Amino acid sequence: MACAAQAVAALAAGRSLQAALDAALGAAAGEGLDPASRAAIRDIAYTTCRQLGLVRELARQVNGRPPPPKLAALQWVALSQLLEPLRAEGVIVDQAVAAGRLEPGGAAVAGFLNATLRRFVREREALLASARRNEEARWNFPKWWIELLRAEQPGAWQSILEAGNAPPPMTLRVNRRRIGVDDYLARLAADGRGARRVGPQALVLDEPCAVDALPGWREGLATVQDAGAQLAAPLLDPQPGERILDACAGPGGKTTHLLELADCRVTALDVGEARLRPVRENLARLGLGQPGGPGHPARILAGDARRPADWWDGEPFDRILVDAPCTASGIVRRHPDVRWLRRRSDLATLSRQQSEILTALWPLVRPGGKLLFASCSIFRAEGESVVDHFLASRRDAGRLDLSWHFDSGAAEAVSQLLPVATATRNHDGFFYALLERRP
Ligand SMILES: C[S@@+](CC[C@H](N)C(=O)[O-])C[C@H]1O[C@@H](n2cnc3c(N)ncnc32)[C@H](O)[C@@H]1O
Repeated sequence: MACAAQAVAALAAGRSLQAALDAALGAAAGEGLDPASRAAIRDIAYTTCRQLGLVRELARQVNGRPPPPKLAALQWVALSQLLEPLRAEGVIVDQAVAAGRLEPGGAAVAGFLNATLRRFVREREALLASARRNEEARWNFPKWWIELLRAEQPGAWQSILEAGNAPPPMTLRVNRRRIGVDDYLARLAADGRGARRVGPQALVLDEPCAVDALPGWREGLATVQDAGAQLAAPLLDPQPGERILDACAGPGGKTTHLLELADCRVTALDVGEARLRPVRENLARLGLGQPGGPGHPARILAGDARRPADWWDGEPFDRILVDAPCTASGIVRRHPDVRWLRRRSDLATLSRQQSEILTALWPLVRPGGKLLFASCSIFRAEGESVVDHFLASRRDAGRLDLSWHFDSGAAEAVSQLLPVATATRNHDGFFYALLERRP
């Protein structure tokens, strides 16, 4: 609990939970934590993060005055554990009190935790009912996020928030260059792993697992990728021999998908060199875009998509994918910390960056060529608004109809995919717009 609380305190101070956990676990390395303890610490921290709105409000209700940040985080972690089903309340309180005793001012800290947590246990139902009248506590999302979503999606905001709080499925993309989807399903079944098909190449596993426990992982039979993200490459529809720019490529989920679909010539660009390392690794594992492999070797470039003069060789592209940096509001079930790290003002900053990327890359599309603008966002500012604004200023750009399907169902055509988690349909939130450069 103490180690998880350290990570949660860093999250509250604005650090990504993954980075905060790596730091907290690194600091605790000398304590000889076994893999099970490390996994438990991660689990406790993520569970707290998913319920941060509720535990903060509960803490506010049981506290006379706010404790210092480190102690506050330990109290949130303990409250979050007390909210778990089948909890052993006495054990949780005792452990939190023991963790508190290790802090500076140990006896007072332990006394504070003992009193407030026992009060929660005693008055649990009344405190929960009262806390849930607060919207951040009810939904576990920041107030600005709830308000914006309610305004933009009056009929769907609640189900979107619920989908954002659901546990994410582990979704695979089968590498059709190496194996058919039915054959891979059979390989999974032979390993005792259940899965169902949710898209042309997409399978959702009944139970998530470590990637190297998957059959043929090292041989590149599959990639982990959400079913909604798997729409990007087919929507861009790469053709053999075409020159394609993947302008925001790291870590390469869509670069590799493009190369699985066609023997095209892909340039994978990303502003961060560190984001390009996994692109190279993924290409190698999947047997794609390598010298001597099938198709054309991929070009991997570090550069800013807003400044093509720094990296473009002057030859136009047949197709461009802009998988733009965004708030990641569509993938919050996979990254539950994002909601607490973002500020409403980030929307304007990111929306401006997206427009700059789109405007800078448009001249690189050959006349008659296509550009797919994508973001993993559910907010208009990072989807429709960017595209509307762009089209209003360009006479040589037109928007094409989209057509896609997840499984054997009917074709669909919406640009704004809302996140869904039902038995038959399970994907993150994305925005897609396909633009054509008129000759
Ligand atoms: C949504 S992620 C891309 C995910 C990737 N397409 C995939 O499917 O694996 C956005 C990427 O854009 C990159 N990025 C941000 N600003 C950029 C810029 N100005 N030029 C190029 N890449 C940029 C980020 O480093 C990040 O890797």
